[in-house]
Amino acid sequence: MPIIGCAANFTPNECQPFMIGKQESQMSGSAKTRVLPATLIPGDGIGPEILEAVVRVLDALGAPFAWDERHAGMAGLAASGDPLPEDTLASIRRTGLALKGPLTTPVGGGYRSVNVRLREEFQLYANVRPARTMVPGGRYENIDIVLVRENIEGFYVGFEHYIPIDGDPHAVAIGSGVNSRAGSRRIARFAFDYAVRNGRRKVTVVHKANILKALTGLFLDAAKEVAQEYAGRVQVEERIVDACAMQLVLDPWQFDVILTTNLFGDILSDEIAGLVGGLGMAPGANIGEGAAIFEAVHGSAPDIAGKGIANPVALMLAACLMLEHVNRADSARRLRTALDRVLVRDGMRTRDLGGSATTHEFADAVIRRLDG
Ligand code: NAI
Ligand code: MG
Repeated sequence: MPIIGCAANFTPNECQPFMIGKQESQMSGSAKTRVLPATLIPGDGIGPEILEAVVRVLDALGAPFAWDERHAGMAGLAASGDPLPEDTLASIRRTGLALKGPLTTPVGGGYRSVNVRLREEFQLYANVRPARTMVPGGRYENIDIVLVRENIEGFYVGFEHYIPIDGDPHAVAIGSGVNSRAGSRRIARFAFDYAVRNGRRKVTVVHKANILKALTGLFLDAAKEVAQEYAGRVQVEERIVDACAMQLVLDPWQFDVILTTNLFGDILSDEIAGLVGGLGMAPGANIGEGAAIFEAVHGSAPDIAGKGIANPVALMLAACLMLEHVNRADSARRLRTALDRVLVRDGMRTRDLGGSATTHEFADAVIRRLDG
């Protein structure tokens, strides 16, 4: 089996995504202390504030990353005239590993989404978005759902154009989606492997094959075919996306791993974040064969940027996924436990969760709680 998302400078047995493989406690002394080069992209809006908080926590945790800080997004545009500067790409090519803040993308005209370009450039075909209830007393308790989203095909390929009519240059807009059998099989295999490795019982394939018969029909067929290889180990079921959206509100506990296409995954992962307290709680991992980029599901939150009140939990959880990716599952567990202690035992929360802590105060509290 290929090693997914393993940076070129990692030894294969050191880099295995998502929890399996050696734990830190089983590693040799030299593997444990090895420094791992990683690219750090502060990003736009609340990005630099939450990144600063996360890096402080990772330092206190003794995480192995040696950061190479680079710009992208509006910050890249301001620094070097390009929202995705060449030196940022070169850094990720070198490290194969990045932690990034959100990047602002202008709506409508302007440049193409830097996130989409990054995913294409490094063929980050799998987007893994776990959502777990951390703060009790919300609308839903005990949510534990992992969404696996195909990350480079579908409607995000950017095949769009206008047809001018009677002097109106934008009289008609046309957009096409692209799903390939190979790409659909690849993401399905990733989802089922993830389920097996993480002790998950079921994968729900979400599609719209009743209407988008070719585009999502192909995705569904490929997923069902791959599912057969996992018969007896992982259950499979299928849902049409609109029904799935409703079921997520009525009975989210029926879901375990959700496997879906790019656009549906984008939409459903925000919905799922809403089940666990909102976007401030939802991390994501973009995994490819040569690189992995970890980030929060949320965007640059321009409405609260610069106020020091953003919730850093989503990015801290993304850092946990990054630690697991490089086989530091023990450190990831320690950080998650500290987050649980701060959020639940101390009841300290940022404003989006009904609290009054600043980003900085929250990070200080997490650092205090790393040891109990
Ligand atoms: P958003 O996720 O930035 O914000 C939506 C709402 O959630 C806002 O009210 C915001 O204040 C709140 N929010 C988000 N993260 C929060 C946090 N950590 N703590 C507290 N509150 C938080 O979505 P929006 O406003 O639609 O997008 C803003 C920009 O971000 C756009 O340019 C968009 O393209 C970009 N974006 C970038 C992403 C990325 O880099 N991965 C992902 C999503 C959007
Ligand atoms: Mg989104």
